[in-house]
Amino acid sequence: MDTIVITGASSGIGLETARILALQGFTLLVVGRNEANCIRAKEKILSENPDAQIEYFVADLMQQREVIRISEEITSYLNDKCDGKLYALINNAGCVRSWYMTTEEGYEQQFALNHLAGFLLTYKLLPALIKAPGRVIMTGSESHKGIKVRWDNIMLYRRYNPLTAYKQSKLCNILFAKGLNDRYNASGIRAYVVDPGLVNTEIGNKETGGIVNFIWSLRKRYGVTPDVPAKTYAFLCDRENTPEGLYYYLCKEKKYSREVTSENADRLFELSERLCGIHYGKVESL
Ligand SMILES: NC(=O)c1ccc[n+]([C@@H]2O[C@H](COP(=O)([O-])OP(=O)(O)OC[C@H]3O[C@@H](n4cnc5c(N)ncnc54)[C@H](OP(=O)(O)O)[C@@H]3O)[C@@H](O)[C@H]2O)c1
Repeated sequence: MDTIVITGASSGIGLETARILALQGFTLLVVGRNEANCIRAKEKILSENPDAQIEYFVADLMQQREVIRISEEITSYLNDKCDGKLYALINNAGCVRSWYMTTEEGYEQQFALNHLAGFLLTYKLLPALIKAPGRVIMTGSESHKGIKVRWDNIMLYRRYNPLTAYKQSKLCNILFAKGLNDRYNASGIRAYVVDPGLVNTEIGNKETGGIVNFIWSLRKRYGVTPDVPAKTYAFLCDRENTPEGLYYYLCKEKKYSREVTSENADRLFELSERLCGIHYGKVESL
């Protein structure tokens, strides 16, 4: 049975996506930051589908040592039970912040979780993805449009604006997917980005305050339920189909920002490698 790792699957879009993929017979390895939320998510999936194959892993993906620890646990699981193969990795965990807040490494939290965590986790799980060969799916956002990466101030340390930080992190999701396709196409790996649209979740009400919390409480009411975007992840995980595009909304390809170029993807790859202390390298050397 094919195995899928999905981060941020203890609530919202990730939980609904895990539920649908479990119904399709995939083994799900769900990652969340809070054990109680992970247990609740697992029980929810099992209550509808008692045969679901689901394991949870707890990690604060904002911290790089936690990403490394969890990747080692997942790799052991894949080696023991899945012939070392990973069919898909869905980098979905994400956050919104109201103020400039940093991780243990001193990195801005939205950039660290929304982009760097997926960058590092994908690197650690690359051998299993290549063995499958598998798919890497990022949760992006329409909000990536109309912005450029601030190469000289990527943590937005000077004049922090939380919305700009969020948008930039979502632009990074597409640049990373493009960079993966540019580098690993020949190995059979495919990377995609899902635009979920506006979805009614609690993301803007977690560890936020002031105006961000207030605006999200109003805005989310206009959002769709998480089962709507979950169908696009299921479409991109379909074993019978290997879509050729990069950016998908409601199971269809969508136009993305002109900032998504190979040059910018390379630049982000190199910067992210430095910030994570890794080097992706060539397929043969993995
Ligand atoms: N909602 C929207 O309209 C919308 C639109 C575009 C893109 N997105 C993107 O969709 C993704 C999922 O968001 P959502 O709306 O479904 O919100 P959500 O319900 O808050 O889901 C976020 C998930 O990430 C987990 N998480 C948060 N911080 C974490 C950390 N430090 N380490 C590990 N896991 C962590 C959360 O865990 P807990 O369950 O413990 O909180 C939760 O499982 C995000 O990448 C977001 O940027 C959302």
